[in-house]
Amino acid sequence: MSRDALIFYSEFDDPGAWKTTLTAELPDLDFHTDPDAVDPASVHYALAWKPPSGFFRRFPNLKLVTNLGAGVDALVGRDDLPDVPISRLSDTGMVSLMSSYVLFSVIRYARDIHIFERAQRRGEWKYVHPRALSDIRVGVLGLGELGAPAAEALARTGFDVRGWSRSRKNIPGVSCYAGIETLDAFLQDIEIAVILLPLTPETRGLLDARRLSLLPTGAKLINASRGAVVDEPALIAALQSGAVAEATLDVFVVEPLPNDHFFWRMDNVLITPHLASITVPEAAAREVAESIRRVRSGLLPLHQVDPRRGY
Ligand SMILES: NC(=O)c1ccc[n+]([C@@H]2O[C@H](COP(=O)([O-])OP(=O)(O)OC[C@H]3O[C@@H](n4cnc5c(N)ncnc54)[C@H](OP(=O)(O)O)[C@@H]3O)[C@@H](O)[C@H]2O)c1
Repeated sequence: MSRDALIFYSEFDDPGAWKTTLTAELPDLDFHTDPDAVDPASVHYALAWKPPSGFFRRFPNLKLVTNLGAGVDALVGRDDLPDVPISRLSDTGMVSLMSSYVLFSVIRYARDIHIFERAQRRGEWKYVHPRALSDIRVGVLGLGELGAPAAEALARTGFDVRGWSRSRKNIPGVSCYAGIETLDAFLQDIEIAVILLPLTPETRGLLDARRLSLLPTGAKLINASRGAVVDEPALIAALQSGAVAEATLDVFVVEPLPNDHFFWRMDNVLITPHLASITVPEAAAREVAESIRRVRSGLLPLHQVDPRRGY
């Protein structure tokens, strides 16, 4: 009979790797993947990515739900979420991957690599005089567990970095703005916008036609958070008119991006298939184990999410 059990659910992640790493950290934890093969009363922890509707109701004694990923937009809107602490994954591996994606995408524009890629396809030696990185204004929208380190990495690389979030932050080398009332001025002043906002009722469609038009003509946009934060038809129109010159998109309203989607045919869009950052169980399991230890001791878990706030 299980005493202190965890139920794991994901159609994307390898339960074997999670079982090995988590039980190495917590040898007394009963790790289960089959909800029918565990005493529901013994399940105190759920580690899950998009489980079927009603999943959480099967386990009356849950003490902690951990979202098997960083983005919790699919989790917080559920009607079967128990009234227990909710946490999400975050680990140094995930942070490094996201920072590397953001650095690559920004540098590709800052160093005109997108222009050279096209020139090479034409067989053309095209000289573009490089600009000093300190003259290039990059704005990071969302300064959370992934956004703040990405902004700091950009600043360390030499860019003129500004950041925007709900509450004011203090990040070395980054000019920080806070609140919706500062967003228009923030957008007017950046050449490369990096979106690392969670998808919530407030951020859905935040980058709409009006706000996209505030970006200086020829701006570049990088979205590595959730597709629906940007109004896709408005972005397509801006990319067609040149108001927004280029976009690097890792996330989309519909994923996988349908074959007939307009983005596929746009020469000024770089598409990556939602992999800017992923979780490596070896690193993340230590954080999940620490959260379980904390909950066992009556403390709150790491990386807690506020379901009412949406992130
Ligand atoms: N493409 C990928 O592979 C991938 C991988 C992992 C995550 N993601 C996405 O990336 C998102 C960001 O991750 P994270 O871990 O950095 O999230 P996080 O730690 O929850 O941080 C979210 C940031 O956004 C800000 N924010 C939220 N709502 C806002 C609003 N209405 N106005 C202004 N600022 C607002 C928050 O402000 P405060 O700090 O003031 O609260 C915070 O700075 C995730 O939600 C997920 O969707 C994508």
